[in-house]
Amino acid sequence: MKRLRLLCALIGFTSLPVVADMASLSKEAFVSNLINQMTLEEKIGQLRLIAIDEKMTPEKIREEIAAGRIGGTYGSVSRYVNRPMQDAAQQSRLKIPMFFGWDVIHGHRTIFPIGLALASSWDIGAIELSGRIAAKEASADGIDMTFAPMIDIARDPRWGRTSEGFGEDTYLVSRIAKAMVQAYQGTSPNAPDSIMASAKHFALYGAVEGGRDYNSVDMGLARMYQDYLPPYRSAIEGGAGAMMVALNSINGVPAASNAWLMQDLLRKAWGFKGLVISDHNGINDLVQHGVAKNHREAARLAIRAGVAMSMNDFSYGPELKGLLESGAISQSNIDNAVREVLGAKYDMGLFEDPYRRIGVASEDPADNNAEYRLHRAQAREVARKTLVLLKNENGLLPLKKEGVIALIGPLAKSTVDIMGSWSASGVPAQSVTIYDGLKNAMNQGSLIYARGANLTEDLEVLKYLGESEIKNDPRPAAEMIDEAVKAAQQADVVIAVVGEPRSMSHEAASRTSLDLPGRQSELITALKATGKPLVLVLMNGRPLSIGKEQKLANAILETWYSGSEGGNAVADVLFGDYNPSGKLPITFPRSVGQIPNYYSHLNTGRPYIAGALRNYTSQYFDQSHGPLYPFGYGLSYTDFSLTDMALSSTTLSKTDNLVASVMVKNVGQRDGETVVQLYIRDVVGSVSRPVKELKNFQKIMLKAGEEKAVHFSINENDLKFFNAQLEHVAEPGEFRVQIGLDSQNVKEQSFELLSEQGSG
Ligand code: BGC
Repeated sequence: MKRLRLLCALIGFTSLPVVADMASLSKEAFVSNLINQMTLEEKIGQLRLIAIDEKMTPEKIREEIAAGRIGGTYGSVSRYVNRPMQDAAQQSRLKIPMFFGWDVIHGHRTIFPIGLALASSWDIGAIELSGRIAAKEASADGIDMTFAPMIDIARDPRWGRTSEGFGEDTYLVSRIAKAMVQAYQGTSPNAPDSIMASAKHFALYGAVEGGRDYNSVDMGLARMYQDYLPPYRSAIEGGAGAMMVALNSINGVPAASNAWLMQDLLRKAWGFKGLVISDHNGINDLVQHGVAKNHREAARLAIRAGVAMSMNDFSYGPELKGLLESGAISQSNIDNAVREVLGAKYDMGLFEDPYRRIGVASEDPADNNAEYRLHRAQAREVARKTLVLLKNENGLLPLKKEGVIALIGPLAKSTVDIMGSWSASGVPAQSVTIYDGLKNAMNQGSLIYARGANLTEDLEVLKYLGESEIKNDPRPAAEMIDEAVKAAQQADVVIAVVGEPRSMSHEAASRTSLDLPGRQSELITALKATGKPLVLVLMNGRPLSIGKEQKLANAILETWYSGSEGGNAVADVLFGDYNPSGKLPITFPRSVGQIPNYYSHLNTGRPYIAGALRNYTSQYFDQSHGPLYPFGYGLSYTDFSLTDMALSSTTLSKTDNLVASVMVKNVGQRDGETVVQLYIRDVVGSVSRPVKELKNFQKIMLKAGEEKAVHFSINENDLKFFNAQLEHVAEPGEFRVQIGLDSQNVKEQSFELLSEQGSG
């Protein structure tokens, strides 16, 4: 309280009669009071979120802040860089504090596995831990807000940003969305070790046509409501303080000028009270979208539609004043936006103490990247839970820590790629590569290494993705493959670390092919020809079409980009110090031509029938039907059996609960975890319903030989969907409950949802 009073005095409220004592006012009254004291220029300044980059010198930024022309910045990640900017804000007329945002996506200094990997853990506790640590590290560096979580449903892996999100499934992504928001924000976004979550990208960014980044989205409302919108709503239920607007258009209207999206849906229907921020340049892009003639019109459309803050602002600053004077926008358009910005600053605790995350200079770390600031143990713990065992012929894995291991592949020694994209505060030199991880684990035996292939041979691709990111070996491809084959010939087992460089699984990195890039496939063929047991360790940010390589390999471990401790985590699994438990959060197609290929599809009028020739069913005739690996799939070093599936009743009334149970037994020799998944199918509806939808899951640990009953409670809510009138209803009739350890192999039982009257 004392601090508050001091601050009020400091920020000059003594000379401004309107705000006497912040502590005595509600948030609304405090913000309104402040707005009443602001000039138009100061209000517009608050709506500008400015990038810390080479465009403006630090002196110029401070000058602008002191003049009240900047509301927040993003891109600076140190207390000593943010402090002078906050000092400048405290020199401005009203001393309104700045906030500092940044893309803290999967870890801050300690890099955790990428989003898609975190989702593969199906372990909400582990996912929360990664978010909480990220918040602690980022807040300790003077950061107040993260532009995360990224919760766009992704069903087209050609889209490079598939890596950043949590996969294809509405239920799983929604659960993670809420957990991540709560992890970042902790007990409250105003806690000194919390950062505010700005969930993104509202909305439907993952559904860009053809997986081509920034492309348009055209989608019926039923699918939107049913499949794509729930994660954003879940983030709001989790308390997300802010929301970032998507770059794509939705049925012809860009998200950044979409009043239906930001007013009718987000604020009115969902009751969102937080801050709406554009994406980087998202407002100016309205000109390219062809809905605004110039930046002035773009600014008018965006502020009227409900974009409160302009990221990388080159439109609100120059244009809002003129727009107001000409009557094209109203004073309340501006005031409402300012109210959101000030409200977010209030929620982040910045009026109470603008330096709550910046601290005092005497306590600044001497080295931001000092080892003691990292959370390596937690990063390793989380990373090993995200690895997915896709194949393990004759129990080749786990390997013994002895003999000769040939480690081959362009990604095996990469410190940069293992961090994944959007790991800007991570330091490559602090990553444990797979080579390092194996070396650390092996106390006897030897490890020999050969690069084997480059990640791309295409010079145009190399130029596009950045030669600083991908370092090609100048030797001829044949020479590199020969060297790898020689290494393999000397070894007892071959581990090939193949996949994509991280820059291929990033923003603006859409692909037309899902094949292993470069000569990696050729390399695998050559390694197989040595006759040595072959383990593929995949490092990639999207499902890959590895049909051919899958046949050649004896074992396959999907590791995504597993972060600072990735190499140790991978070694833990390869050597059996940890029994893998990850499950795919996204379908692996056989080929790019199968896309979209997601498990929760509709049945169609002519569903595929296995084995029948030219049977006029829904399929491609030139490739085996179905995915290479289904959603929810992942093996363990032990085996689990599911038996005795039962429902507590064959009917369910609208006010009751029903319990679905199954016995799960670890029938193998090792202790292990698995994910028991509950799917439901609505057999007959007023509209066609998916063949199955994930409704719940439990990750359980079973000792070798141990058996446990797993129970899922089901009620009417789990059966609801959006009908043709967009009403959220459950319709009476038959429902099939499916329980499995992946989405394909399931046990099934039916029940009937009774109508109000008690009959079907
Ligand atoms: C991305 C956002 C990100 C922003 C700031 C944009 O290009 O689309 O997700 O938050 O940059 O880095």
